[in-house]
Amino acid sequence: MTARDTILVTGGAGFVGSHFARAALDAGSKVVVLDDFSGGSTEVPGAVIVRGDIADRALVGKTLAAHRVTSVVHFAGKIAVNESVRDPAMYFDGNVVRTLALLDVIREHGPGVMLFSSTAAVYGTPERTPIEEHDRLAPINPYGATKLAIEHALAGYGTAYGLRWAALRYFNAAGAHPDGTLRENHEPETHLIPLVIDAALGRRPPLVIFGDDYPTPDGTCIRDYVHVCDLAAAHLAALDRLDGGASLGAINLGASTGMSVKQIIGVAERVLGRPVRHSIGPRREGDPAVLLASNALAARVLGWRPERSSLETILDDAIRSRT
Ligand code: UFG
Repeated sequence: MTARDTILVTGGAGFVGSHFARAALDAGSKVVVLDDFSGGSTEVPGAVIVRGDIADRALVGKTLAAHRVTSVVHFAGKIAVNESVRDPAMYFDGNVVRTLALLDVIREHGPGVMLFSSTAAVYGTPERTPIEEHDRLAPINPYGATKLAIEHALAGYGTAYGLRWAALRYFNAAGAHPDGTLRENHEPETHLIPLVIDAALGRRPPLVIFGDDYPTPDGTCIRDYVHVCDLAAAHLAALDRLDGGASLGAINLGASTGMSVKQIIGVAERVLGRPVRHSIGPRREGDPAVLLASNALAARVLGWRPERSSLETILDDAIRSRT
């Protein structure tokens, strides 16, 4: 029996979760998706769908036993930084309280292997770039704080209860499955790349660039965009490594290349062959100037190298999924 035999994917109807579910099915795993369909509506063909809440202890216990789940990959959660600032209660409940309920059931019923979706937001405003995993952890919003709280819980559960875990800290997840069947679909959409594409296609109002007076070469924020299929592959590699025994701790998942908002607009205009209508607005609160991952640990521990994370490929795949 291996961790990849039967995987419970919480949040498997969401953006990263659905891409992981698809990758795991393609690689031969049985996949059981547990989702309340509040943050995404993608049903991946071939996955068993359980509609419900991660904090429903009876449902989760029954699901783990009925399907003989061998690992849990936990994507479900609230993901919008701005919303977390306005409504921290919802974020601490959704991301911390409910995850602790899930962990309780896992402790009781097994399996002993869990991957957790963490985020670059645990670093807050980084002291240096590229960011390494042992750099200062100082979230500047409740979203990042809730993710870090669960990382701490996992460390404790690993030591005390023998849970084998990894927390994968995503930088800017983007792109879509190259066959066009899965897409980034948040409601409301706040992420740059879908907004850029939709602005170019005239489906949304012109993009507002949140500030062009940052200390970067063109004045706009630099981020590390990583293809969602590369993220999915890293999760499969992490499950394999956890089969080997020890917990992996926290690992950055980024392409380790920085792209500014203006650079993205430029590449999108080239790829789409039409202008991305935009204006310059004020800075958005809580946006660090540069977020860039060191992915050396992921390379060393997981043997992971991003393969689809060039901006052209990310945009090609995202455009295909939206047209
Ligand atoms: N941006 C704009 N205009 C928009 C939307 C975004 O200029 O309409 C800019 C942002 O200011 C930022 C960049 O585009 O500089 C990327 O913004 P996103 O909202 O797409 O992504 P974030 O970098 O804010 O957030 C991502 C993840 C979060 C995670 C965070 C880590 O979506 O879950 O990285 O800090 F917390």
